[in-house]
Parts: sequence; structure tokens; C-alpha cells
Amino acid sequence: MPLLHLWQEHFGFIGDDAMLWIATKLGWQPINILELVTFYPMFRQHPPGKTHIRVCRTLSCAMAGGFEVMENLCTAFGIPPPPDREGLHNPITVSADGNYSVEFVECLASCHTAPVCMVGEQLHENVDPTSAADLVRHRQSARSSPAATGNPHSHPPHPLEHRLIFQNIGRPDWTTDIDCYLRDGGYEQLKQAVTMSRSDIVNKVKNSGLRGRGGAGFSCGLKWSFIKLDEKRPVYLICNADESEPGTFKDRYIIHEDPHQLLEGILISCYALNARTAYVYIRGEFPKGAKILERAIEEARTHNFLGKNILGSGFDAEVYVHRGAGAYICGEETGLIESLEGKRGYPRIKPPYFPAVLGLYMCPTIVNNVETLCHIKHIVAMGGAEYARLGRPNNTGTRIVCVSGDVQRPGYFEIEVGAVTMGQLIYEMAGGLKPGRKLKAVIPGGSSAKVLCADERFKLKQRQAGGSMIEVELSIDDIPMDFDSLTAAGSMAGSGGVIVLDDFRDMVWVLNNINEFYAHESCGQCTPCREGSLWMKKITDRMLRGGGVVEDPKTLKTIGDNIAGRTICAFGEACAWPTQSFVEKFPEEFAARAQKPVPPPLPPEYTPEELIEEELIPTVPMAHDPGWEKAGAKGTI
Ligand SMILES: Cc1cc2nc3c(=O)[nH]c(=O)nc-3n(C[C@H](O)[C@H](O)[C@H](O)COP(=O)(O)O)c2cc1C
Ligand code: SF4
Ligand code: FES
Repeated sequence: MPLLHLWQEHFGFIGDDAMLWIATKLGWQPINILELVTFYPMFRQHPPGKTHIRVCRTLSCAMAGGFEVMENLCTAFGIPPPPDREGLHNPITVSADGNYSVEFVECLASCHTAPVCMVGEQLHENVDPTSAADLVRHRQSARSSPAATGNPHSHPPHPLEHRLIFQNIGRPDWTTDIDCYLRDGGYEQLKQAVTMSRSDIVNKVKNSGLRGRGGAGFSCGLKWSFIKLDEKRPVYLICNADESEPGTFKDRYIIHEDPHQLLEGILISCYALNARTAYVYIRGEFPKGAKILERAIEEARTHNFLGKNILGSGFDAEVYVHRGAGAYICGEETGLIESLEGKRGYPRIKPPYFPAVLGLYMCPTIVNNVETLCHIKHIVAMGGAEYARLGRPNNTGTRIVCVSGDVQRPGYFEIEVGAVTMGQLIYEMAGGLKPGRKLKAVIPGGSSAKVLCADERFKLKQRQAGGSMIEVELSIDDIPMDFDSLTAAGSMAGSGGVIVLDDFRDMVWVLNNINEFYAHESCGQCTPCREGSLWMKKITDRMLRGGGVVEDPKTLKTIGDNIAGRTICAFGEACAWPTQSFVEKFPEEFAARAQKPVPPPLPPEYTPEELIEEELIPTVPMAHDPGWEKAGAKGTI
């Protein structure tokens, strides 16, 4: 993959000749290169325009005008606009003069500054949909505008915040230089850690109760304890910086603003796990983050914080930055490992391929999220028990919650886990809804999390002062923002990405946007996921276009039910949960869009032509099926 990135950076695309050349150099078959180039969305087989623009089409951006950004760009550069206004993927389109090309891409991990686009490698935030083209034409001025460079944390912490990870970020005098980090006591915990025994550090992490911040919320100490202290094979540590879950945008920020905090967390973890090699797998769309990390690594090396004989401890560790290339599934830990090995990011089946047993190069491997690894430094500083006093039992510490969507002040908030309720987060921290709007629903943990409806009542078990448990009934506003409460409410805390939806939102439209994401991102290994995600998207798409049939909500649910639990990786659940929950919680809206009689209209390619011609069976166009688009208005191929 590094070679493919290099080639594309130099030549703009990876054509047939390039693939042959690369294959020959590596001693591979050309098909092995082709499968990579076609798997990873960032790699292109055809030349783009001189300026290539990637417009985010995912939910928070779509709600803020991302599709209008695309329209504006297409109109200004004389590019045929995408066939509809629903933000569906289309191939890269180049303007006639070859100067510009545009492409819809998935969540760029900056949902709080939606809508966003990338012009070349530069991220543009808070893009004005009506003048997006001007921004591209006058890039220099746009980059220096406050919207593009503003740091949402340059204001003091909200009184409900408790900052550990964000302690320094946003301070006026704060920079990413190692000298600045050292002035603030940086790398003191690494110095302390290398004098401790490995098991002491692992025990501290266990006692802290730290749960992974990447999505699953698995106990970090327990995961680490799967690595044997006398392990003979090489142990690897992987920092998961793939951050692709729609609604999540914290890891990029940590990397950009405080790379040494992450690096210190990684190095302490390497020492504790006896891992001499660590990789930071960073999303391909974070080129700046990759450069910042590489610089930080070199700075740390000059101080002997990494490399050989770290701080005279006899311990050696190297950290490498590895760029992904646009595939969401490479955030899943085994997909990530395959990708790191230079293959397509096809998740591995568990068991037997639990990373801690058979991970990178079939060696024991720990995969942890960026935020999780940052906490390690604070656990060493505070001690496990002290850290565990933050938050709630089984939900300890702080976590960064990312709020986007229909709120007045979207952004990042570091809270003590469970010390803030959903209502406090939305109304007090994120400024509440826009004037005149009411809360309709919340997706609380990234787009994979089941949606919570504003009118619902949730039955949660709560621990009383004396330790006894009682069941309480809560409104959405009263749900504590912690792992267990959100699970009990029927959803999950996931990656901490909270997407707020107000009463102006059409839930079929929202689900269709989410379904397009999953249909595009399924790796395709498992039939239920590959076919089901696309099928669900085709149904919601059809419903939006007025072609929904009465069976559709039921069919959607059946498809979701038949994906979840029947796939190699948890992407299956991630793509089924939105559909299952939206259809269940907003039945009237789905029924209103599903009015046509059964049997469902079938796509013409599955229907005998005579039936269509004799109009014995109703048909509606299937959106974006190339065969159908060529078929013309009458609907026969
Ligand atoms: C489809 C899918 C996508 C994922 N994407 C990410 C991601 O972008 N970043 C991340 O840290 N974890 C992601 N995860 C979770 C990882 O598989 C893994 O659990 C996590 O990196 C472990 O780190 P943690 O224990 O520190 O949370 C994803 C999981 C799935 C199923
Ligand atoms: S569940 Fe989906 S993403 Fe995961 S391995 Fe199967 S096809 Fe790939
Ligand atoms: S950056 Fe566009 S939805 Fe996340």
C-alpha cells in the first residue's frame, strides 16, 4: 500500500501499466495489485482532474448541505451533476478542461464542521454550499479563513467537562512540538513505566477498569492480559487510527493537536506488552495526521523515548505509521490486520483469529483505539484505583463524546463517563436544538448504533447508594452517557459519536443515507452482508422515490434480522441495527412511504420481458443500476 500511495501521489492514478510495473517489481501477479486498487476507494484507475475534490456525503454533512456542495461544484466546473440529489456514490467525474474532478466520499471524520470536503489533501470545513466553487478557486484565502482553521477547543472547558486527554489541547500556548510537551511534564509516565515491572502496568490498567474507546467497549486490561508474559513469538501493538465510523471525529483531533500524548501512550503500552513493534494504522484521508505523527516519532527518537535501549531500560521499540486507503472495514481489527499485511481488508473469522492469539503475521497482537491508548499515560500517572474513581463502576474514566447533526454547538466534549446525561449533553453542552425545532431522535454511538426516539421511555437498572439495584424509567434526556446505560436503553455508546436529529428530519431519508454508507463499505465476503446491505439500500432508495410497496418495512426488517449474527465480522450488526431500529421506531413514516400494492415491483432484469411489455407486472426503476439506466423510459433492456 505505501507503494500504491506513492505511485498515485506522483502520477495521479494507478493505471494498467502501473499495476504491471509494480507487480513485476514486487514479484507478484498483476491481479494481486488490481485487487488492492479496486478494493480501496482512495486508489484510482483513471486520471482525476488537476484539482480533485472529495465531498463528504455521509449523514451529518448531508444534513448540513453536502449534496448542495456537490451540485455547486458541478455547476461551476461544468461537470454533469450526480444523477440525483440523494448523495449516492458515482464514479469520479472530470470537467471537460481536465482542471477539476469531483467525487462523493464517506464521512471524513469532521462531522461537527459539516459540510466538509477535501480539495487535494486539504480539508475544508463549514463549507458554504452556495459558494463551494469559490472556495476551491481561491484555496489560499479559504485555508486561512477562521472557519477552516478555527480550533473548537480554544474556549475554556464547559463546566460539565472533565478533561484528561484534552487537558492541554486548545491552550493558546499549546503546540505539537516535543519541547512544548516536555515543558508540561511530557514523557514522565514513560520514564516511570520503564522502571516498573510489566505486570504492574497491566494490573494498573486492569484496576482502572478502562474500556476500549474504539467501539466495542471491551476491557483494555483484560485484553492485555491475553498476552503471555513469557510469550516467545513477537508481540505487536496496533494503534487503530482508522476513525471512519460516521459521527466520530476525536482521534484525528488528538493526533493533530497532541501527537506526543498518543505516542507516550503507545510506548508505555509497548513496554507493558513487551511489544517491540507498534503500528499506527491511520486513515488514508488523514495525510496531515500521518505527517504530524511521523515528525513526532522522529522528535521522540532524538530524546531516546523510542528506538534502541529506551531511556537506558534495555527495551527497544519502533513505531511505524501506516496509511489506509479509504475503506471503513479496515477499522475492524482483523480487517485492519489484513490490510497492514498488504492485502484487501477482509476481516478474519473469530475464532480462531483473535488478534491476541493469531494477529499480525499470525503473532499475538493488541489492537487499541487512539483514545484508549492516550488513557494509558493517565492511568500510570494516577494509578488504576484513582482513575477508576472517575466515572461510574464498570464505566470508568473520561471519554470524548463527539456531537454533530441538528445542534447549535456541535463539537467534542470530554466527560466523566456517565456523569453527564443525554439531555445535558445536547441542551447544555452542545447548545440545544436550532430555534423552533424539537428533538426527534438520537443516534448515540456512531451510525451503527440503534437510533433512540425522543418519545421513548427507557427502563434502566440503577445502583442505589447502599449498593442495591432498582429499575427506573427514564426519558431520553435522562439517560446517562455511559456504556451500560446506553446498552440498557437498547443501543450502544460505541465510538462516542452522537448524531442529533430534529423534527424536520425525514427518517426514511436518514436511513437511506446510512444504508448507502453500509452498502458501499461492505467488504463483500459474506453473502448476507454484501447482498443484504445493498438490498436494504435499494428499498429505502425506492421508498424515497415514491416506489415503496406495503411490504417494504417488513422486508427491511427481515433483511436486517437475517444479516445480524450471520456474518464474519460485526459489520453485519452495524449495518443491520440502523435499519432494524429505524423501521421499528418510526413505523408511520416508513408506512407512509410504502403505499404501492404487493407484489413488489421487480427490477426488470429479474422479470421476464413479456410480463413488462404486456404490463402484466408493475415495475419501478431501480436506482443507479447501470443496466436499467440504459434501458430508457419504457423500462425494457
Ligand atoms: C465495522 C467496524 C469498524 C470499526 N472501526 C473502528 C475504527 O475506525 N476505529 C477503532 O478504533 N475501532 C474500530 N472498530 C473496533 C475495532 O474492531 C476494535 O474493537 C478496536 O480498535 C479495539 O480498540 P479498543 O479496545 O481500544 O476500543 C470497528 C469495528 C467494526 C466492526
Ligand atoms: S460482515 Fe460484511 S464487512 Fe464483515 S466480513 Fe462479512 S461482508 Fe465483510
Ligand atoms: S465528516 Fe461528513 S459526515 Fe462526518
